[in-house]
Amino acid sequence: MKKTNVAIVGMGTVGTGVARLILDHGDRTSRHAGRTIWLKKAVVRDLAKPREVDLPDGVVTDSLGDVIHDPEISVVAQLIGGLEPARTIMLQLMESGKDIVTANKALLAEHGPELFTRARELGRSIAFEAAVAGGIPIIANISQCLSANQLQSLEGILNGTSNFIVTQMDERGASYDDVVKQAQELGYAEADPTMDVDGTDAAQKLAILAHLAFGATVDWSDIPKIGIDNLDPADLQYARELGYRIKLLAVANLADDGLELSVAPTLVRIGTPLAEVRDAFNAIRVVGDAVGPVFYHGLGAGQMPTASAVVADVIDTAVGRTKLTFQTLEYFNIEQPPRVKLLD
Ligand code: NDP
Ligand code: HSE
Repeated sequence: MKKTNVAIVGMGTVGTGVARLILDHGDRTSRHAGRTIWLKKAVVRDLAKPREVDLPDGVVTDSLGDVIHDPEISVVAQLIGGLEPARTIMLQLMESGKDIVTANKALLAEHGPELFTRARELGRSIAFEAAVAGGIPIIANISQCLSANQLQSLEGILNGTSNFIVTQMDERGASYDDVVKQAQELGYAEADPTMDVDGTDAAQKLAILAHLAFGATVDWSDIPKIGIDNLDPADLQYARELGYRIKLLAVANLADDGLELSVAPTLVRIGTPLAEVRDAFNAIRVVGDAVGPVFYHGLGAGQMPTASAVVADVIDTAVGRTKLTFQTLEYFNIEQPPRVKLLD
């Protein structure tokens, strides 16, 4: 059987889950890829730090050069968070001929145009299903499965940490500070949880989805956003008394005069699908002109749901399927994008 050699850079919450899936379920990944997916290297920052997964001898290294200079490694799951050194490492990996899989939405939202342009120049691919809504395959659905549609709107709960916090405060009376800590311990929160609770993470994911769904190039920092960091338990209680829950909703709506984008805590009527999305689950409702409304629901944060998306991308990359998403992005570059209307 053919073999694709893979490396992981960044062995934190997600990297550990990816290693687990590749090592423990080689039969499954091989069946879907039609080839062995082989974990050849895992790059860590600190060799002495204990790891939650047993890696075979010779796999762990603290030298990125062991990946860059190994021509047998063709796919790299780049799972370091933040902007630097993640950006530089991704560029170095692509320049050395590697295709990339990443979950880093902050990096794509901030440096996507540079990274995708460079990938195109080098003939490399960047797969990023895990960057939005964790385990929900929303990138593939929007860019491939719904491609016959003019999408009209998209609204969703895109940040698992915020939804976890709001659910725990609303339904279990937990204190804000305690639940933030819990979200960190469970591996849902970003290294800096401010990004989760102030709406930044949801705005970055919305900017990525707006590009794929509507062809709009949006600077995520221009999207008007309000987080859940100033929600009072009393707000949640009043909402409940009136028959509503408060959810951090990211919304993109194609209006006659442009694309409206926003991230804000929103009243959602109890009993409707979005109101019933709990804890670290995410949900997205997309409306297309041909298909009508489609609703996606699944875990949006956490080790294994995110690893599920990363490893699927690794398999797709190994067999050349990610080129499809890649072409969609190229297509959008030459289409007339809608005017982006930023609401106050
Ligand atoms: P973690 O902070 O748990 O892991 C990041 C890892 O990268 C850490 O182990 C860190 O090492 C390592 N690292 C940092 N710099 C380097 C370097 N120069 N060389 C090698 N390793 C390095 O983050 P997550 O795993 O949670 O997230 C990773 C990415 O996935 C982020 O972009 C995040 O936004 C995204 N994501 C996370 C999800 C989740 O549920 N956690 C869901 C979807 C996306 P050290 O241990 O030494 O700090
Ligand atoms: N911190 C992010 C969240 C991880 O809570 O949604 C998934 O992208």
